[in-house]
Amino acid sequence: MSGREQGDVMSQAGAILDAVARAADRIHAACSVAEALPDVLAILGPAAGVSRVYVFEHVAHVRDDARIRQRFEWCAPGVEPQIDNPDLQDADLVAMGYGRWVRELTAGRAIVGDVADFPEEERPILEAQSIRSVLVQPIFAGKYWWGFIGFDACDDVRAWHPVEIDSLRVAAQVCGLALALESRDAFARHAYKMEALGRMASGVAHDVNNLLAIMQANVDLLRRGEVDVGERLFELNHAIDQASRLSRELLAFGRPADARAPLTEPLEALRNVEGLLRRVAGRAVRLELDAEGEIAPVRIAPSQLEQIALNLVTNARDAMSDGGVILLLVRTLDASEASALGDELPAGRYTLLSVRDSGHGIPVELHDRVFEPFFTTKESGQGTGLGLATIYGAVSAAGGAVRLTSAAGEGTEVRIYLPVA
Ligand SMILES: Nc1ncnc2c1ncn2[C@@H]1O[C@H](COP(=O)(O)OP(=O)(O)OP(=O)(O)O)[C@@H](O)[C@H]1O
Ligand SMILES: [Mg+2]
Repeated sequence: MSGREQGDVMSQAGAILDAVARAADRIHAACSVAEALPDVLAILGPAAGVSRVYVFEHVAHVRDDARIRQRFEWCAPGVEPQIDNPDLQDADLVAMGYGRWVRELTAGRAIVGDVADFPEEERPILEAQSIRSVLVQPIFAGKYWWGFIGFDACDDVRAWHPVEIDSLRVAAQVCGLALALESRDAFARHAYKMEALGRMASGVAHDVNNLLAIMQANVDLLRRGEVDVGERLFELNHAIDQASRLSRELLAFGRPADARAPLTEPLEALRNVEGLLRRVAGRAVRLELDAEGEIAPVRIAPSQLEQIALNLVTNARDAMSDGGVILLLVRTLDASEASALGDELPAGRYTLLSVRDSGHGIPVELHDRVFEPFFTTKESGQGTGLGLATIYGAVSAAGGAVRLTSAAGEGTEVRIYLPVA
């Protein structure tokens, strides 16, 4: 027990468990496990009283390959970091003579002990890093061996008490659990996107079918010649218009940025439709269109910009059944100024169109969904759910970004950033 009293060991184990709990909190608060891991190692290292803590990820290219890559490291003051050690990057553990480690770790068992007692083929790499004793715990994300977390003692030989070994196993399990949850979330998000695309495809098929049925019926009636030709032609024309609107909206999705799009003066384009926007907003709603400073032109068709404003004003009006205010504000700003507003954008200058209303707002849990094609909270026949999806498509195609601020009962602001041409 290298001179440590039972009481010392227990208090060290207590400190480790406490650190594990703090590490779990840190992971919980982070956006991703990778973001939290540097802090997690910095919490665990001092608590375990070791020289170095590191995380290796198993990067399997083919079955049974045990290639590993060092992802994170924490070093006690004065201990030499190994994260840049080329021998430890993209190395095959088996080829390095660490077949025993692979067998033990994949079986869920720890590697622990004094380096002096390790098999001969394992010692050189560890001794080159001045490691005297190690504890390595496997990390499993669900059923899969994700990698391992290791603890090095460099200054002196360290005996690992079973309670400490178990406490640090819990640390590895916390990491593994978080990784498993994260990949399940990513999978769920992907499945969700596929489902949304499926819904969109069937929605479009449904709309197209309806329009075709209308056209067919009118053509049949015209053929029989027993009808008011003008009326039939009017209906046909209407159906064709709707079909072409649908196809335009669909084409707007995922279209690459169009370098030939015309240069548009946003303020001018909006002033041209101000009257229309006011009529859409209705009498009970006050609509203001303002600009701040010099407004730089953007590369997007004026009709698209008008469509964007129209969709946003329509949404705003629908959210204010008892009237209210819609503020349209245009300004040109730098990505750094947008960042101060909370919007992270690639560096550059943007012209921003902000549309803010005093309506019922959008609950936070719907913020991602509202941009999905065919997502609507409106009664059937009231909304198709294409308004924001179309905006998203058009703005993305122009190389811009859409941001949303809203909470239930607190109004909504949609910000459209278009790169300055
Ligand atoms: N300004 C807003 N205030 C409150 N909710 C909004 C606002 N804008 C959008 N939403 C919510 O987002 C949903 C999706 O909006 P979107 O414009 O894509 O479709 P829609 O308005 O329902 O239908 P469409 O625009 O195709 O007629 C709306 O149903 C509504 O729930
Ligand atoms: Mg809408």
